[in-house]
Amino acid sequence: RFLGGTIGLGLAAVGAAGTAFTVLGGGGGKASAATGTLPVPDLLEGTASDGTTTFTLEARTGTSEVVSGVTSSTMGYNQAFLGPTMKWTSGDTVLLNITNSLGADTTVHFHGAHVPAASDGGPQLAFADGTTWAPTFEVKDEAKTLWYHPHALGTTAEQAVHGLAGMIIVEDDTDTSAALPGDYGVDDIPVILQCLASDTAGDIKYDLTGYLGNGLVYPVLCNGANVDDTTLTFAATKTRNRFRLLNASPSDIITVQRSDGGTMTQIASDQGYLAEPAEVTTVRLVAGARAEVVMDLTDDVTLQAVITTGWVRGGSGTYDFLTVTAGGSDTPDDLPGTLRTIDRYDTSDFTARTITLGQSGTTMLIDGKAGTSMSAMEMISTTLGSKEIWTVKNGTQLEHSFHLHDVPFQLISVNGDDPSGVQLGWYDTYEVVGGGSIEIAMEFTDFADDTYMYMLHCHLLQHEDEGMMASLMVTEG
Ligand code: C2O
Ligand code: CU
Repeated sequence: RFLGGTIGLGLAAVGAAGTAFTVLGGGGGKASAATGTLPVPDLLEGTASDGTTTFTLEARTGTSEVVSGVTSSTMGYNQAFLGPTMKWTSGDTVLLNITNSLGADTTVHFHGAHVPAASDGGPQLAFADGTTWAPTFEVKDEAKTLWYHPHALGTTAEQAVHGLAGMIIVEDDTDTSAALPGDYGVDDIPVILQCLASDTAGDIKYDLTGYLGNGLVYPVLCNGANVDDTTLTFAATKTRNRFRLLNASPSDIITVQRSDGGTMTQIASDQGYLAEPAEVTTVRLVAGARAEVVMDLTDDVTLQAVITTGWVRGGSGTYDFLTVTAGGSDTPDDLPGTLRTIDRYDTSDFTARTITLGQSGTTMLIDGKAGTSMSAMEMISTTLGSKEIWTVKNGTQLEHSFHLHDVPFQLISVNGDDPSGVQLGWYDTYEVVGGGSIEIAMEFTDFADDTYMYMLHCHLLQHEDEGMMASLMVTEG
């Protein structure tokens, strides 16, 4: 199988060059991906000095087994496919030294992070093969699950589907964070789900136009391991386990559920903690979205990924991707009844805008413009401190995943309905169904920069590359 089977007994173990992951066996068990154990991405150790934590990443090429039994050319950060997990601490200053060894331009975007535009990693910040980009900034975010991926103009889908994606965990010192599982790979478990498309020779596809129905296979991966015909296992050593779910697919919607129909306790949406824990039976993630759930396990549980899509593709279906075997003998305290305060916006005096997602053939549009070059895309300007309510209208019959850089938003309405339950959390990526609309509200704080800009776009990466992207300039008022 795909993983080199690096066997690690703890976080100190570092995957050897070319291997993808350190597998953390529960209780020091001799686990390897070859036997279907959940691979856990390495934790990237930062070096702290003078109040700055430095992380070193290299975007590079390699080979991996994405389709079972076939070798694919892939890309990864510091490894052949996917990348290590970074932990950032709220309030710290981080410096990222990122070297491009891909043989093509790239950028690295910190999806969901509230950072200065010049550090955001949008398409205007492309850096060439053989060069290093070194953004530095203060971590303004509170505890949440973010991710990083490439974002260069026209090549985001190609680079991301070949493996360029990794998780970022932001930690803070709130009582809520202290009360939740946080031992990485032990009771705080990253789950990166991807539905890809490949030909049978292992050539991973990013532009499906012309391929639909033409004999492609659609591997479904969890942390880089193919779960088409294997259910991975994770041996829990604690009763309470926290799962950080990321849909890093180029297009598909993934709904995570238990095979026994039981509930999970959702504690976070894209942008951190919900106001209170929510008992849910399903977690629906559009491309780019994240959620965190906890489960207190006294029996084994199997998690399923239900793949649905706006595309016509062969991979739709239900995949048992992970069996968690119960192994804890501890009795966890009750979860905090309140995770944080979320003041819901009163939008009566917010500035209103309408953003229309459109299409002309295979060209994807925002407000009638195709964002296939920096100059052609729609540019939206706002000022620091402004509070806005946007109606994002889907003028197409396709499904879209609307993502806004820079600031989190609240859902004010979803297809005309008031939000409820987990929709009352903070988001940066949300589903807009064909013909539907969402209203979102946000406040532009902290950073104004009239040289660099942020992006708003569809997170179906082919749509983004085909023009469904606009720029957002935040300037001093
Ligand atoms: Cu995850 Cu602008 O992207
Ligand atoms: Cu789209």
